[in-house]
Amino acid sequence: MSDPILVVRGGRRLEGEVTLQGAKNAALPLMAASLLFTSPVVLEGVPRVEDIRTMEQLLRDLGAEVTWKNAHTVHIHAAHLRDNRAPYEIIRRMRASIYVLAPLLARLGEAWVSYPGGCAIGPRPIDFHLQGLEALGARIQVSHGEIHAEVQAFQGGTFTFPRKSVGATIQLLFAAAMARGAVRLSNVAREPEVRQVVDFFRSAGVRITDLGPDTLLVEAPEEGLSPPGPVQIIPDRIEAGTLLTAAAITGGQVTVHRARADHLPSVLDTFREMGCTVKEFEDRIELQAPSPENLRPFRIFTEPFPGFPTDLQPQFLALATQIPGRSVIREGIYPHRFHHAEELRRLGARVEVEDGTATVEGGTPLTGAPVEGRDLRGTAALVLAGLAADGETHVSGMEHLLRGYEAFPEKLRQLGAELEWV
Ligand code: EPZ
Repeated sequence: MSDPILVVRGGRRLEGEVTLQGAKNAALPLMAASLLFTSPVVLEGVPRVEDIRTMEQLLRDLGAEVTWKNAHTVHIHAAHLRDNRAPYEIIRRMRASIYVLAPLLARLGEAWVSYPGGCAIGPRPIDFHLQGLEALGARIQVSHGEIHAEVQAFQGGTFTFPRKSVGATIQLLFAAAMARGAVRLSNVAREPEVRQVVDFFRSAGVRITDLGPDTLLVEAPEEGLSPPGPVQIIPDRIEAGTLLTAAAITGGQVTVHRARADHLPSVLDTFREMGCTVKEFEDRIELQAPSPENLRPFRIFTEPFPGFPTDLQPQFLALATQIPGRSVIREGIYPHRFHHAEELRRLGARVEVEDGTATVEGGTPLTGAPVEGRDLRGTAALVLAGLAADGETHVSGMEHLLRGYEAFPEKLRQLGAELEWV
């Protein structure tokens, strides 16, 4: 079957209430972390998206039993691992498969993991993962596109991340939670998903002390990890930001249940600066937007948390096309993450990209056309643009979007959007 295309009929103002899924980028590392335990780990609120299915398949291939107890609760039991390889077929589908490296090493002493290549959002090296694991005692060789790593046991030590990295911080937390001796990690990433991994290990008996804003001291329990109770995955802040942007681009009004303002500080600030009304509650966020022609243009710079997230840059670029005046969007994480800009031009957007910065002369009408997404968030941005475009926008590449958003068209439809699969 060919990949599905989503037809978006623009011009509807979105209004209503939606509820967030659990965060894909928190569930993926916790699924990999389950490999460190010989008793079952229970994760609740796991989104049923393609990347989760890929991780599920990988864990099964390695020997874990993965059982869904209901739509969003998964039991992972890794009593016996039978394989220590993450092959290219899996890694090329999902880079987060690299998360099994430290758990496999800790459990089996040796692992083979295919070396991830570039991807649609540009180069995404994993050198910090490998340097950090070496600092804790692993021996690593890369040849023929494969990482071969060995360790007798992870040792205590120190590692300073050359720049903040979500994935490398999490990888090193896995190793540190199994290390013989204290591990000091400096310049760690502070994204909410990283914090969830920290909390997970704390509940498994690991002592993790904040030695400053960006430094953690990790002390593994001598008796080994104890199985944590069921873990509720945090709500997906990127899905929240995407739905809020969908409301803003149509001049709508939306209540996003489960959304946490403390996970979206710079995003909510940007909405307010452009003229939206944002109300924060403990269990939800409400946003009310005037018609985009009455919003003010904005400047954003994507950075590690609590800065503006790169995973919402494409969606905000789509929004900027509808706001009169010049908006400027600088990519501080992935300077090449701008494929969606070219596609937005096909709809009538005036956007120029140079040196990792997009300049948008907004307020031009968009007219529906076929467009193609090449990556997860970029495809979401094209759907949002379709909501504001005159006529029909046919979005292909929807398989990318389905890697990370569960029931996304259905949620938009619930808010009054007109969309259908062909
Ligand atoms: C995570 O990727 C997310 N993925 C990404 O979300 C997100 O865009 C990214 O963090 C940034 O927030 C998951 O959580 C599964 P990084 P990750 O290591 O961990 C450089 C989505 O749409 N770097 O924080 O791979 C790197 O090139 C995805 O859901 C190195 O140089 O990102 C980047 O410039 C896309 N060497 C910066 O650090 C390394 O060894 C931050 O990347 C590692 C990273």
